[in-house]
Amino acid sequence: KVVAVILVGGPTKGTRFRPLSFNTPEPLFPLAGQPMVHHPISACKRIPNLVQIFLIGFYEEREFALYVSSISNELKVPVRYLKEDKPHGSAGGLYYFRDEIMEESPSHIFLLNCDVCCNFPLPNMLDAHKRYGGIGTLLVIKVSAESANQFGELVADPTTKELLHYTEKPETFVSDLINCGVYVFTPKIFSAIQNVNLLREDRADINHVAGFQSQQLATRSPPTDFVRLDQDILSPLAGKKQLYTYETMDFWEQIKTPGMSIKCSALYLAQFRVTSPHLLASGDGKKNATVVGDVYIHPSAKVHPTAKIGPDVSVSANVRIAAGVRLMNSIILDDVEIKENAVVMNAIVGWKSSIGKWSRVQADGDYNRKLGITILGEAVTVEDEVVVINSIVLPNKMLNLSVQEEIIL
Ligand code: GDD
Ligand code: GTP
Repeated sequence: KVVAVILVGGPTKGTRFRPLSFNTPEPLFPLAGQPMVHHPISACKRIPNLVQIFLIGFYEEREFALYVSSISNELKVPVRYLKEDKPHGSAGGLYYFRDEIMEESPSHIFLLNCDVCCNFPLPNMLDAHKRYGGIGTLLVIKVSAESANQFGELVADPTTKELLHYTEKPETFVSDLINCGVYVFTPKIFSAIQNVNLLREDRADINHVAGFQSQQLATRSPPTDFVRLDQDILSPLAGKKQLYTYETMDFWEQIKTPGMSIKCSALYLAQFRVTSPHLLASGDGKKNATVVGDVYIHPSAKVHPTAKIGPDVSVSANVRIAAGVRLMNSIILDDVEIKENAVVMNAIVGWKSSIGKWSRVQADGDYNRKLGITILGEAVTVEDEVVVINSIVLPNKMLNLSVQEEIIL
């Protein structure tokens, strides 16, 4: 049997996602019309003998209750949300719920960060992991040397694929091969987390208090309350024939900013061509709007046939799109109204916002820049003929003048 654990973090983590994280936890923000966490969850469905999926985080349980019950029914695999009383770190969170995770005595445990976007080649990772015979296998990818320092950099043996060296976000360049935040472990990982102080001592020569280890064995937490998977577990275990790597040649991105959510939404829309073509809109401009490239339109949205949508647009529930509207490379959230001849490009339009006639909400689309996309928070009103360029507008604002490169508080 196999179980999967998805780390969803908590409310302190989503600050870079403001103002979109005020009401919706980042893991439930829609990419390609589906909550972010839906993409790794549906990838888990392809793992043979999968019996349970756990989401571990420190958001309130009620924020995930609805989603967890609907996805359990849809996939016919039990999905449970487990709430930590406080952040325990990526390995500490896993350890904290080890009894629940081991309930069905799984032989393997997948661990996935929820804020990464890739095609999650989980069955291939499991096969490779079984061949290697270690306690864990990491998904890794080559990125540009300039961007590698935002991630865990690592060195692997080119033949055996053993993880030889691991450094989390190093200041000086180590390697352009990085950790994707997707792992498969055997249950031995819990012993490694339990022994974290020994591992830490091993590396840093911290004074070990005799007897402390055994005294803590019976409690729920490891000897220390906060354990990071990368620094505390992967680094010290590298080069000990316990960890191995599986390199993906496909797409991989990290989703830490709203700009990256537009990019990742587009990547998932492209993936739908292969995995779920029925989710992609088609239109010819007669009965339905003209559709260009990959577009998701929720069945409850009302789109005028003279609108032109795409590429890379997702339109959520109850959105109303009037005649002559043009949408490109954008995410339109629930209950938005876009009036006649308005244009939205490289933008995220927040829940219940309204965009007036002949208005433009747009940006240059440079995802690496804070104001490279335009974001309207929840319930923003853009009046008729107003132009909003490369700006972030906080919730409940009314814009009657055009703005450029501004944050409207
Ligand atoms: N439940 C829970 N509890 N989840 C947590 C906690 C915690 O205390 N802390 C972090 N997480 C979750 C986050 O929500 C995220 O999904 C994942 O764990 C990793 O977050 P961080 O520990 O903040 O690391 P990171 O995202 O900056 O970097 C990690 O992922 C990169 C890939 O995206 C590292 O492992 C890097 O090496 C790696 O390249
Ligand atoms: P050029 O770059 O000089 O062609 O100007 P443009 O305004 O056509 O380019 P822009 O990048 O602003 O627009 C991109 C797309 O949106 C193009 O396909 C345009 O046809 C379309 N577009 C631009 N303005 C409007 C508009 O007011 N209404 C509609 N329906 N579409 C528009």
